[in-house]
Amino acid sequence: MRWPGLLEAYKEYLPVTKDTPKLTLNEGNTPLIKLERLSIEWGVELYVKVEGANPTGSFKDRGMVMAVAKAVEEGSKTVICASTGNTSAAAAAYAARAGLKCIIVIPEGKIAMGKLAQAMMYGAEIISIEGNFDQALKMVRNISKTEPITLVNSVNPYRLEGQKTAAFEICDQLGTAPDILAIPVGNAGNISAYWKGFKEYAETKETGLPRMFGFEASGAAALVHNRVFENPETIATAIRIGNPASWNLAVTAVEESNGQFDEVTDEEIVSAYKKLASSEGVFAEPASCASIAGVFKSLKNGRIPKGTKIVAVLTGNGLKDPDTAINSSLIKPVQLPNDEKVVAEHIQGVVLN
Ligand code: F0G
Repeated sequence: MRWPGLLEAYKEYLPVTKDTPKLTLNEGNTPLIKLERLSIEWGVELYVKVEGANPTGSFKDRGMVMAVAKAVEEGSKTVICASTGNTSAAAAAYAARAGLKCIIVIPEGKIAMGKLAQAMMYGAEIISIEGNFDQALKMVRNISKTEPITLVNSVNPYRLEGQKTAAFEICDQLGTAPDILAIPVGNAGNISAYWKGFKEYAETKETGLPRMFGFEASGAAALVHNRVFENPETIATAIRIGNPASWNLAVTAVEESNGQFDEVTDEEIVSAYKKLASSEGVFAEPASCASIAGVFKSLKNGRIPKGTKIVAVLTGNGLKDPDTAINSSLIKPVQLPNDEKVVAEHIQGVVLN
């Protein structure tokens, strides 16, 4: 059967009314892949929820389909967001689909190329500021109060409603909730949305509750240290955020679920990023790999016991950020002349190795 998209598939769980437009790019229904090698190597049962398989390549599509549909329902003509890249790609795509204007505000030089390319192609009005995400978010929050524009950052409650559907899918795919959900944390909306989703499904379908493990980048670890980071910095630009908007909701998710926040360094993120792609064939963007790096760290320091059933959320597609991939890889194309004999000799050497 053809997957109808989230608003149709989960309408009983979402604020969908008879006036909500049937907006969709057939988002959701993403794969839950078992990491066979890493599960054996680490002595756990480890799965990844591959959110990069969504139509614009990240989990943001889940929240954006709901937020943009509600904006249309409420008569809005324009949406606005601040973004480290993925939110803006999703906002621009769903606005294009719904026939709305989209304005995005991004931190100059700190968004991955694939994400910028998307916003351009979907036809957004792009404003690049000499500031970081937190500053951009403050601006758009204020501007949307006085202008006839709908804010579609995750402070818009419809965003979290849409995003909670990923927790439903995990429960359906596994049969129950996992023991632990490992998730990268930036603005802290997604961890809050997952927790809401797990709780709602547990109430109606008795699927149980996971412990929520949220991982921030060390250079942007506000929740771990319980203080704002004025100048957040990390290679994982998607989570380069120093003052998460959903701070309280995320703390509640971790406390209620007996989970934890922890931080991972850029080195740990890059190492997980490479290992995931080269040993499992799964290419996720650097920020996403904070979840895998976090699982590895927690296994080493004993905070996750052996035998645990873990789902790590891979929030965005690796292709979003080709520069980081090319710059961090040790593999470079071998340049040879256009000569079959030379190429064949080289290949024989590779096969023998
Ligand atoms: N992973 C990726 C790939 C992201 O793009 C984001 C957030 C996160 C994780 C963190 O999720 O903010 O809900 O805690 N990206 C936002 C953006 C900020 O503008 O695209 P969060």
